[in-house]
Amino acid sequence: MTNLVPLHPDRVAADRTAGDARSGAERAGPLDRLGRPLQDLRISVMDRCNFRCPYCMPREQFHDNYQFLRSTERLSFEEIVRLSRLFTALGVRKLRLTGGEPLLRHNLADLIGDLTSIPGVEDIALTTNGVLLAQHAVDLQANGLERVTVSLDTLDRELFKRMSGGFAALDQVLAGIEAAIEAGLTPVKINAVIERGVNDQGVLDLVERFRGRPVIVRFIEFMDVGNRNAWRPEMVVPSRELVARIDARWPIEPVSQNYRGEVAQRWRFKDGGGEVGFISSVSQPFCGSCSRARLSSEGKFYTCLFATQGLDLRALLRAGASDEEISGAIRDAWLGRIDRYSELREEIRAKEHPLRKIEMYYIGG
Ligand code: GTP
Ligand code: 5AD
Ligand code: SF4
Ligand code: SF4
Repeated sequence: MTNLVPLHPDRVAADRTAGDARSGAERAGPLDRLGRPLQDLRISVMDRCNFRCPYCMPREQFHDNYQFLRSTERLSFEEIVRLSRLFTALGVRKLRLTGGEPLLRHNLADLIGDLTSIPGVEDIALTTNGVLLAQHAVDLQANGLERVTVSLDTLDRELFKRMSGGFAALDQVLAGIEAAIEAGLTPVKINAVIERGVNDQGVLDLVERFRGRPVIVRFIEFMDVGNRNAWRPEMVVPSRELVARIDARWPIEPVSQNYRGEVAQRWRFKDGGGEVGFISSVSQPFCGSCSRARLSSEGKFYTCLFATQGLDLRALLRAGASDEEISGAIRDAWLGRIDRYSELREEIRAKEHPLRKIEMYYIGG
């Protein structure tokens, strides 16, 4: 049955055009060694989290005495704003705040207010587990946040508890989503990481719950991020399989991407019930158009989600480096970038010495 589902047309086009990923009007900042511009910065503002999802922060390792960063080790808001200005001057147009859990960072709305005032920033988004969202949605919106993405892998109460590492907070997350809708942080996006044999049976429930609402559910193929989630290829449910399953219940058709290099493939319900998305970085890698950089909460700059090493921008900031020096260091790192882990996954994994990759909670999604 899965053979009947065509590849999303965007992916076919992307395969043909890997290389320079921007139009003439956008040419300004550096291109990496594969011709990709720097357009998107994902900033982890907090390494801590109030969940212990087994695929990200397993409780055995992230126990009550685990040493997270001290607050002075994290970048201050001033430092984040200064770096964001420099990144924007190099071509970044979109900022995403992530964690760990970003809403654990005090006064996050103030940071959003500062970031929205940077010339050139066109889009600011936030990825959260949603537990504290009901409390903060209005404030975040008032400070300039336009939209929010909530991680939610299942609607099954028992499974939710297991997948969040023991927290029975499903109702809080659902209330957070409703509060975000009410505050106008729409469309709310939901990220659901699907693992075979764990939560793949709940996919249609997620679709049914949010169909017809200002919410876009996106199904993410489980990835081998970091070193701790015991990933195996058999645990991945390829997006094509999910497209077929959803299509059989509520017919869907592909929609073209909102912007070049968009991570999710968009599909809409033929009956007008809205859309769903699929993020297929295992079965259909999208490194060819990847314009994303990442900044950890302690100020390391990474050019790939699967990087093993980062550039220590905090050291430069705190040693009194000038804007030109910091900007030059970022530019050089981007110019030398050759990352395309998802395209090389099998080759890299076949090597005898596995990579020591950075962890998701530290770098954000
Ligand atoms: P918008 O289109 O702006 O809403 O955001 P987005 O599609 O970039 O989505 P988001 O930032 O929520 O990313 C969703 C998920 O996609 C992340 O949590 C990751 O699991 C995955 N992802 C995002 N960017 C990358 C990437 O560069 N490489 C890989 N391999 N996965 C990514
Ligand atoms: N594979 C895919 N997505 C993941 N996320 C966390 N770990 C993984 C993984 N192994 C997603 C979360 C959240 C975002 C921060 O990253 O679901 O939406
Ligand atoms: Fe779970 Fe996100 Fe927290 Fe990781 S950062 S433990 S994926 S809620
Ligand atoms: Fe970009 Fe690295 Fe993800 Fe490929 S694996 S899309 S290069 S972050």
